[in-house]
Order: sequence, then C-alpha cells, then structure tokens
Amino acid sequence: MSTPIRKVALVGASGHLGPHLLSALTSSPTFTTTVITRHSSSALFPPSTTIHRVPDDYPYSELVHAFRGHDAVILSLNHLAEKCAATNFYGIDPTAKTATIWGDGSTRFSSSTYAGIAQAVVSILENPVRTKNQTVYISSFEFSLNELLDAYKTIFGDEGWKVEYKEIDSGIEEARQKIGAEDFMTRMKAIGRLALLSTIKPGLGGNFVESGISWNEELGMEREDLVEVLRRVLGR
Ligand SMILES: NC(=O)c1ccc[n+]([C@@H]2O[C@H](COP(=O)([O-])OP(=O)(O)OC[C@H]3O[C@@H](n4cnc5c(N)ncnc54)[C@H](OP(=O)(O)O)[C@@H]3O)[C@@H](O)[C@H]2O)c1
Repeated sequence: MSTPIRKVALVGASGHLGPHLLSALTSSPTFTTTVITRHSSSALFPPSTTIHRVPDDYPYSELVHAFRGHDAVILSLNHLAEKCAATNFYGIDPTAKTATIWGDGSTRFSSSTYAGIAQAVVSILENPVRTKNQTVYISSFEFSLNELLDAYKTIFGDEGWKVEYKEIDSGIEEARQKIGAEDFMTRMKAIGRLALLSTIKPGLGGNFVESGISWNEELGMEREDLVEVLRRVLGR
C-alpha cells in the first residue's frame, strides 16, 4: 500500500500557472503546501503561506534541504512563457481582426485552462497509486481553429475579419528552418509555431479524447466553455 501524499512543495507558485496551483492545493483539506521561491523574487503570496526561499540558481543541496519532509514536489517553472505569449500563439488577432487558419481549420485539439491544470494536479496527487509514473493527458475542452475564430467573432463581432488559410506542412517546414536562427525571438516564434502545428496536424495525437488517452473522466476534469474562457482571459 502506498503512503498518501500530504505535504507538497510547489516551485514557481507566482507565475502564470503557479497561483492556480497554490489556490487549488490550499483549498483542498488533504494537503499542506510549502512554496519554494527565489531569494530575488518579488512575488507576494497569501499571508498564511509557508514560504522557503532558495538562491536564484536553485543549488542542489538547497533544494534537497527545501524538499526534505515533503511527499511530492511540483515544478511549475517556465520563464519563457511571457515571450511566447506575446507572439500571438493561435494566429488570431482580435484588434486587427486578422486570423491565420492552418489547414482547413476543422481539426479539434485538446487544450487546458490554468484552473483546469491545477484541478488535475490536485487529482493526480490524490490518486498516487493510479497516477504514479504515468503520463497523464488532460484537457478542459477540445476545439478547432474555426471554432476558436467563431468564439472571437461572438465576442468582437462578425464583421471585418481578414482570414488567411495556410498549409500546415509548409508552416512546419518554415518553422523548422527558423529554429536555428540567431535571433532569440525568431527561434521562440518558430518553437511556438511548431508546438501549435504539431498539435493541429491531424493524426499526431493532439486530441486526447479522440485518441482515447484522456484521463479527464478518471480525474474528474471539469469541461469548460470556450467563449466564457475567452471572455475571462480577454476581460470582455
Ligand atoms: N504559460 C503558459 O501558457 C503555459 C502553457 C502550458 C504549459 N505551461 C507550463 O506551466 C509551467 C509553468 O509555466 P508559467 O507560464 O506559469 O511559468 P512563469 O510564469 O514563466 O514562471 C513560473 C515561476 O518561475 C519562477 N522563476 C524561476 N526562474 C525565473 C526567472 N529567471 N524569471 C522569472 N521567473 C522565474 C518564478 O517563481 P518565484 O518568483 O516564486 O521564484 C515564477 O513565478 C511550465 O511547466 C510550463 O511549461 C505554461
């Protein structure tokens, strides 16, 4: 019988995803959580949070010390995300009313909200026997680029959109060529483009539900509404 997970260390609690993880963990009566944050971090946490500071380069011995006594460690680090987010990931710009649709735009793929990811992490920790050493695929919803564009149109209006259709394979080839570029942002955009196109390209497993690998039901994932989420994210 395995020991239940009770004490959780969370590294990266202040980022995009981190606050959702912290909130989901502290809302659950099952867990007590320690936030591991950098000495230089200016992040603020709720007053009751247990905080352990470590040097900015996360030295091994300091991490061993910080993690001691915990049953699980969650790493939520990704200091490139801000730059990736600035590159208009899905190719839809509601201000300019322009959209790039890859392929015919009808392939549905899996996607998760921060709150959904946090909910899944809590469920994973609550079910350690079932989830141990597993790759867990979860999603808050499945949608296609056409459905995403329709959701934008619902919020920003139907009129005046310029939609360009592009071939997925030529987009992949173009991104591959740019992945070794000297310029940092060119490389980041190429990585973002490859991530999007390999998710959208039919047959590559970007739709976890359709591929039969989804853990949604088992982990009790809540389904979300695309227009509602978009409104929340865009503050509209
Ligand atoms: N953002 C997305 O859209 C997205 C989408 C899918 C998956 N993910 C995944 O979710 C995880 C977390 O991503 P995130 O976007 O939430 O990360 P993030 O906001 O970029 O950063 C998370 C935390 O990293 C710590 N950190 C360590 N070194 C840093 C540095 N040099 N500069 C800034 N912060 C630094 C900070 O915590 P302290 O200040 O407390 O030290 C920060 O709060 C990653 O595994 C990522 O791949 C993210």
